[in-house]
This record gives sequence, structure tokens and C-alpha cells, in this order.
Amino acid sequence: MPDRPKQKTEYVCNSCGHVSLRWFGRCPACGKWDSLSEQARQDIADQDVAILTSDQAPVLLSGIDASDTGTRIPLEVEELDRVLGGGLVPGGLVLLGGEPGIGKSTLLLQILMRLARMGMKVLYVSGEESLAQIRIRAERLGQCPDGLWSMCECSLDRIQAAVKEVEPRFLAIDSIQTMNSPGLSSAPGSVAQVREATARIMKIAKSMAIPTVIVGHVTKEGAIAGPRVLEHLVDTVLYFEGDRSHSFRLLRTVKNRYGPTFEIGVFEMTEGGLRQVTNPSKLFMGSHVSPVPGAVTVPCIEGTRPLMVEIQALVTRSNMAMPRRTTTGIDSNRLAMLVAVAQRQLGLALHECDIFVNVAGGLRVSEPAADLGIIAAVVSSFLEMPPAPASALFGEIGLTGELRPVSRTELRLKEAARLGFSSCIIPASILSGVAVPEGLTILPASDLKEALVAAGLHENGRKGRH
Ligand code: TYD
Ligand code: MG
Repeated sequence: MPDRPKQKTEYVCNSCGHVSLRWFGRCPACGKWDSLSEQARQDIADQDVAILTSDQAPVLLSGIDASDTGTRIPLEVEELDRVLGGGLVPGGLVLLGGEPGIGKSTLLLQILMRLARMGMKVLYVSGEESLAQIRIRAERLGQCPDGLWSMCECSLDRIQAAVKEVEPRFLAIDSIQTMNSPGLSSAPGSVAQVREATARIMKIAKSMAIPTVIVGHVTKEGAIAGPRVLEHLVDTVLYFEGDRSHSFRLLRTVKNRYGPTFEIGVFEMTEGGLRQVTNPSKLFMGSHVSPVPGAVTVPCIEGTRPLMVEIQALVTRSNMAMPRRTTTGIDSNRLAMLVAVAQRQLGLALHECDIFVNVAGGLRVSEPAADLGIIAAVVSSFLEMPPAPASALFGEIGLTGELRPVSRTELRLKEAARLGFSSCIIPASILSGVAVPEGLTILPASDLKEALVAAGLHENGRKGRH
């Protein structure tokens, strides 16, 4: 069969990453106008294979030495090592994503300075700041160590040459959106450029076994330069998130080929850079001396770690035809469902009320174990009754009001006991076989009504004006 003549270029949509062989004014996939730009034709998948293939014949997997723990580079910062699955892996490519200004460059520079202090030669490539600006930032973060090499460069060719010359043990690229490959006509930051740049950096990282972190700015829509164009290329995806109005930041593992996903590391932004928070429950728990109506505490699980989280609700009489349901940190559809269950099971006139629910500290809670806490906060505010003192609660709520089991009960109970809670309401179905920490009273409940009575939130004691 004759070889197909090879077209040299292709067109890629800067919005969704769709690739086509000819130019369109409007992307056939996502419908966005004027978003296609030309790039040199290449199949990223082929490149992936090219990097990883070698001449080796098949071998028995059982004969492979998999003790990579010896080769990992721990950063000796507990919160960082946890999200990385134990430390940096040689040749591992990490994508650090986050909104502009959240602190990605600060975190990266702190990692670099740490490694340099440990005696490693590291290279920081910035396409965003001048060397003087980097130096000023480094001084803010501590004494600038030897072994920290830095360059301001956007050209991938020159970066590649510099890496070969310096031979660093760690490479940082800040940010991928500023890098450009001279072979492509599209602007830096476009999907074509970002993809090409990542593929080239990956080649450098893998071929020289250098652990590499690349920074990627997340756009307003929440994607790194087009939906997920980079996530499949890299080994680890970390998202740095947080509320600008709060000083704490969460580093979340979204993907990790070398460790568990959905781990979080908690940091606090201070005058002198980011500082790890080793007891984050304190951050998300309320600071009330005695219980107040509308605030309950739930032992949640983030990754593998428990966090005591305060959920707050405000329920007020509405004068609108469609009462408001506003949430921060929880899914508003989940709230709508829970409110409907509470209305049916408890007969409360919540349909006449505006309901606001908020997770303290700006955290996002998505696990169903928080269901009971959300309802309890709403009911507590509606009845204007505070929950029982030093009491926590968790459990998933079904549509018929039953309390369903959730995972990791013991971890949750331990955290509640550690932080001084004296009782915890849990789904009755998970009671058997659970080791109860000393000093904690377990109050099992099989449905919503029972749970709220145990929490001291029942109508008999109400003094609210609803
Ligand atoms: P930066 O790392 O530049 O964000 P990104 O690279 O994600 O765009 O972080 C900038 C913010 O961090 C800025 O608002 C100032 C703040 N900051 C501190 O509060 N303390 C510090 O020591 C540093 C270096 C920055
Ligand atoms: Mg930056």
C-alpha cells in the first residue's frame, strides 16, 4: 500500500483542543468562533510512546526491582510529601495548577530553595518575572541558597540547551503558558503551544531523569489552557486552591501515577511565604465558645486525612415568591435535596424561608457524609436552637430520611475525640465493630429524626419565630 502523503500542519482549537486537518472559522467541536490555529503536525500519543520505548525485550514483572522509595526525593515538608505520595520521583512531571495570584510561584520557589539547601543543584525557569523580581521574592522567603540557578526564558530551545548545560537535579518551569516553541505560529498560551511545550519538557524530564514541576494558570472557566489538554500528559496533577480572602491554601492531588489521589496539603500564606498547617482541623472549626444556632461540626475526610469542619446555615423568612438557596462550599443541588427531605420528614415550613449554607474557612465539602451536618445546621437555624455542646455528627441521608453508612468511621471518631468533642452522632448501621476512642460517647441514629433528637434539635424545645 502506498504511503499516505503527510500533511505538515494541522489546526487545533484554542478553546477545546479539537484537532482538524483544515481551517474553519468556527470550531466544529465546541462552536467557538475564530479559535483554530495552525500547528506543526504531530501525534502527542506517538511522542509519549517514543519516550518510553526502548529496545528491551519483554521481561518478567516479578523480576523488576520496584523499590522506588529509595530513589524518591522527599521534600521533608509533611504537607508536600503527602500530596506527592512520598516525594519527587526522578523523571516525574508534575503540573501545578491554580488561579493567578494564588501562590504557585511562591510555593515553587520555596521548594527550590529547600532542595538547594539540601545540597541539590536546581533550575528555576521563569517566563513571567525578571531575575531581580525572583531574587526579591527569594529574599522574602529566607536566605537565598547556593545551588539555586535561575533564568528568565520563554524559548524552549534555549531552555533545553540550558538544562543540558546546568544538569540540575530539579527543574521548575513557571509558567507553561509563557513558553513558546519556535516551530509553531500560534501565540504562547494557546492549546497548541502549551501542548507542544509540555511534550518537549516531558522529553527533557524523562530522558535526563529530572523531576520537573510546571506551573499552569487556570483560566476563569477552571481549565488549564483548554479543557484537560495537559492532564493526560503529566504524571501528577496538583491544584493549588483557596479563597483569596482567607490566608489558607489547599494543595490537592487530582492525579498521581506515583501515589494516592485526592490527598490534600494545607498551607497558610504569611508575610514570609507559605507555611504548612499540620493541624488543619483548628482552621476549619468554628471559634464559638458555646454552641450557637445554625453551626454544627462534621468530621469530614479529605483524601486520607480527617478534618473537623464547621457547617453554618442561616434560615430566614423569605419575602420572595421563590425563596433563595445560596451555598458556599457545598453543592446547591445537594442542599435542595436535603431541604426537601427535611420538609417531608420533619414537617418544617422551609419552603417559606431563604436558606444560606456556608462551610467555614472557605473549604469545599463534597462527600455525602456531610449531609446530616447540613440538615442539622439548617434545622438548628430554623428552630433557633443551638446543637448540643461538644457534639459532632456525620452520615449520609437517603431520600426517605434514613441515615446511611459512610466510610472511615474510626478515623472520623478519632479526630473528633482528639479535638475535644465529647459525643458524636453516627448512622446506627455502622456501629458494630467500630473502635470508640476514649472519652467519646457514640449516639447511633437510624434516621434523620432520631439524629436531630440526639443533637438536641427537636421542635419541643423550639423558641424560634417561624
Ligand atoms: P504568587 O506566588 O506570585 O502567585 P502565582 O504564581 O500563583 O500567580 O503569589 C502572589 C501572592 O502571594 C501575592 O498576592 C502576594 C502573596 N505573598 C505573600 O503573601 N507572602 C509572600 O511571602 C509572598 C512571596 C507572596
Ligand atoms: Mg506566578
